[in-house]
Amino acid sequence: MKVAPSILAADFSCLAADVARVAGESDLLHVDCMDGHYVPNLTIGPPVVAALRPHTTLFLDCHLMVDNPGVLLRAFADAGADGLTIHVELGDPRPLLDDIRALGLRAGLSFEPETPFAAVAPYLRDVDLLLVMSVKTGFGGQPFIASVLDKVRAARRVIDDEGLDVEIEIDGGIKIDNAHLAAEAGVDILVSGTGIFGQPDPAAAARAIREAGAAARARA
Ligand code: DX5
Ligand code: ZN
Repeated sequence: MKVAPSILAADFSCLAADVARVAGESDLLHVDCMDGHYVPNLTIGPPVVAALRPHTTLFLDCHLMVDNPGVLLRAFADAGADGLTIHVELGDPRPLLDDIRALGLRAGLSFEPETPFAAVAPYLRDVDLLLVMSVKTGFGGQPFIASVLDKVRAARRVIDDEGLDVEIEIDGGIKIDNAHLAAEAGVDILVSGTGIFGQPDPAAAARAIREAGAAARARA
């Protein structure tokens, strides 16, 4: 079970320090890149990834919520991103997934809460990561949408049955008290923003989320 703090909920005025606080309890860092078009919010781009890169060895898991990810892939790679995730809602993702891998990065595909599993199923052989959104993209701090767990179960079944090398990540509204639900459904990576950086002790929160997930996975 892996945990990926979402830096969207960190203090951008001291990002490196906030990341250092949770690094010992983190497996990846989730970086939410929003362009003000795909979603009505504007956040982080390649310059911030480049600024953060020398301060951490953690995997930089960049979630691209942008209308035209193709024009940014190389800039994110040059900035030091480790993985790039694009949205299936933009259309056939295969060419961009191939481009991401050609840049030497791990390729992820995400889908919104209202998008069915059938929309991403044809691409499971083209990705390293499937990012299941458990809130509508755009903002941190929204409540967890439990109905997306059916899509996690469906993905888990296909990935296991076909022996695919794809990790399932869930993103949105994950906290200590619901991490077990995601883990039981078959999630490998728990993203949490306000559930970690919004807590008095972010490192303890990250550890508790990971432990709750691992315990549930062991029981499942
Ligand atoms: C939402 C982002 C999420 C967000 C999660 O569009 O993709 O990664 O940061 O934040 P919390 O955990 O606070 O819901
Ligand atoms: Zn995200």
